[in-house]
Amino acid sequence: MVSDPCRIFLTLCTLTFTGTFCLLQGSPKVLLVSFDGFRWDYIYKFPTPNFHSIIEDGIHVKQVTNVFITKTYPNHYSMVTGLYAENHGIVANEMYDPVLNKTFSMDRMDIYDSEFWEEAVPIWFTNQYEGRKSGAAMWPGSDVNISGVYPSFYLPYNETVSFEYRVAKLIEWFTSNKPIHLGLLYWEEPDESGHLLGPDNPLMSYVITEVDNKLGHLVAELKKAGLWDTMNLIITSDHGMEQCSSDRVIELDNYVDKNLYTVVEHSPTVAILPKEGKLEDVYKALANAHPNMTVYKKEDIPERFHYLHNSRIQPILAVADLGWTILQNRSGRYLEGNHGYDNTEPNMHPLLVAHGPAFKRNVTKEAMTFTDLYPLLCHLLDIQPLPNNGSLSHVQDLLTSAAAQFLSDYGGQESYASIVGVFLGSVLALTFLLVFIKHVTRSQISAPQIEHPEITQPLLDV
Ligand SMILES: *[C@@H]1O[C@H](CO)[C@@H](O)[C@H](O)[C@H]1NC(C)=O
Ligand SMILES: *[C@@H]1O[C@H](CO)[C@@H](O)[C@H](O)[C@H]1NC(C)=O
Ligand SMILES: *[C@@H]1O[C@H](CO)[C@@H](O)[C@H](O)[C@H]1NC(C)=O
Ligand SMILES: *[C@@H]1O[C@H](CO)[C@@H](O)[C@H](O)[C@H]1NC(C)=O
Ligand SMILES: *[C@@H]1O[C@H](CO)[C@@H](O)[C@H](O)[C@H]1NC(C)=O
Ligand SMILES: [Zn+2]
Repeated sequence: MVSDPCRIFLTLCTLTFTGTFCLLQGSPKVLLVSFDGFRWDYIYKFPTPNFHSIIEDGIHVKQVTNVFITKTYPNHYSMVTGLYAENHGIVANEMYDPVLNKTFSMDRMDIYDSEFWEEAVPIWFTNQYEGRKSGAAMWPGSDVNISGVYPSFYLPYNETVSFEYRVAKLIEWFTSNKPIHLGLLYWEEPDESGHLLGPDNPLMSYVITEVDNKLGHLVAELKKAGLWDTMNLIITSDHGMEQCSSDRVIELDNYVDKNLYTVVEHSPTVAILPKEGKLEDVYKALANAHPNMTVYKKEDIPERFHYLHNSRIQPILAVADLGWTILQNRSGRYLEGNHGYDNTEPNMHPLLVAHGPAFKRNVTKEAMTFTDLYPLLCHLLDIQPLPNNGSLSHVQDLLTSAAAQFLSDYGGQESYASIVGVFLGSVLALTFLLVFIKHVTRSQISAPQIEHPEITQPLLDV
C-alpha cells in the first residue's frame, strides 16, 4: 500500500523531523497564572490544600527572586520578557519618560501608550511570530498594542470580571479548533486585600483560602476540559507583601521643600524628579534624613538592582527599609501592607509551583530568579527566546529528563549547529512533504493525513 515517496517521507519524519514534529503535534500547552501579591510563605501560614496538591504532584520553588522594583507592572513584564526592568522599560507602576515627555500610571489606568512597552518584545509576540496562538485574560500589558501585536485572544482589562469568567475564556481558547498554546491568567488577589489588611492580619486567612479555592476551580475546569494531563501549568506571582505600620512613616516634608521636586513613583521605593537645577539641593536634604530611608543618586543605585540604564529611572531614588512607608506628609496614602522594597528581601518574594508533563513530580527547589522563567516558558513552547537576562540551565532541574533532553538537543544557548540542523532538516522535510502532498493529491491517497491531522495542519498554515 505504502508508496515510495510516502516511505521516504515517513523516514525523513522519523530521522530529522521528530523533535520539531513531536513538539508541533503534541507540544504541551502552557498556562502561566499570576495571583498578584501572593507571598512565598502564605502556603505555610494558611490552609492551602490546592496549592499543596499541585506541589505533591509537581514542582515547588520556595522563593522566587523577582526584579527590582518589586511592583506589579515591572515584574509581570519581566515574566514575559526575561529582562530586568531597566531593559524592558516598564521600570515602575508610575513612570515619567523625559524623552517622550509622557507619563504612565497604573493607578489611573493610563498605561495604553505603546511607546512605554516597546523597549521589549513579550512572549506572546514571539509565540505568534512562530505560528502559534496565545490567549491572555487580564495579564498586565496584554491589552496594549505592542509593536502592532496583541495576543491572538485577550480580554480588555476590567477588574470586575470574575476569575471564573477568565478561566472559562482561557479554556475556550485552549480547546477551540485552532487552539492557543500559550495562556496567561491574572488575578488581582491577594494583593488588594494584602494592601488593605496587611499580611499579618488574621483576616488574610480568608483571603488566601479564597485564592486557594480559585486555584481549585481552575484545576477542576482544566480536568473537565481534558487539558489537565497535557498542560504545563505554572502558578506564581509578581511579588510578596510586607506588614507596614503607621509608626514607621517617613515624611519627606520634614526634610525638604516640596516645591523642589515631584514624586513620580510612590512608597516604598520613591522615584524623585527634582525641579530644574535642584538635584543637589534635594539630594543633600534627603541623603541622611532618616535611618530607615536610603537615598541614591541615579548613578549610585547598586548594580545588583539592575536599575540604572533607562531614562525612566528618575535622578533620585529613595528606598525604605522593609516595613517602612515614605510619604510627602500624613495626607498621603498609607497602606497597611506594601511591596516594592529591595528584591533580596524574602518577604518580597512569591513562590512558584508547576504541574505538567514537562515537570518532575514532588520536587522542591529552594530558589530561582524571575528572569529564568522566560527561557523556561520558551523551552516549553518550543520557541526561540529573544536575548534576555535569564538562563534555562538554572531551572533545568525542574524538568523531567525527557523534557530536559530536548533542551540539550535543541534549546541550549550554544547549540546553534543543531538549530541550523533542525532548520535545514525541516526545509528538506517540508519540501518532501509538499512533493508528497502533490503526490497523494494526485493518487488520492489520504491515509497519512488522516493519521496525523495535527501534523499537517500547522504546516499547511505556514
Ligand atoms: C511636556 O508636556 C506637557 C503637556 O503634557 C507640556 O505642558 C510641556 O511643555 C512639555 N514639556 C516639554 C519639555 O516638552
Ligand atoms: C497598533 O500600532 C501600530 C503602530 O505600531 C498601528 O499601525 C496599528 O494600527 C495599531 N493597531 C491598532 C489595532 O490600534
Ligand atoms: C531602621 O533603622 C534602625 C537604625 O539604623 C535600624 O536599627 C533598624 O534595623 C532599621 N529597620 C529596618 C527594618 O531595617
Ligand atoms: C513527596 O516527597 C516527600 C519527601 O521528599 C515524601 O515524604 C512524600 O511521601 C512524597 N509524596 C508523594 C505523593 O510522592
Ligand atoms: C540583560 O539582557 C539584555 C538583553 O540581552 C542586555 O542588553 C543586558 O546587558 C543584560 N543585563 C545584564 C545585567 O546582563
Ligand atoms: Zn500591590
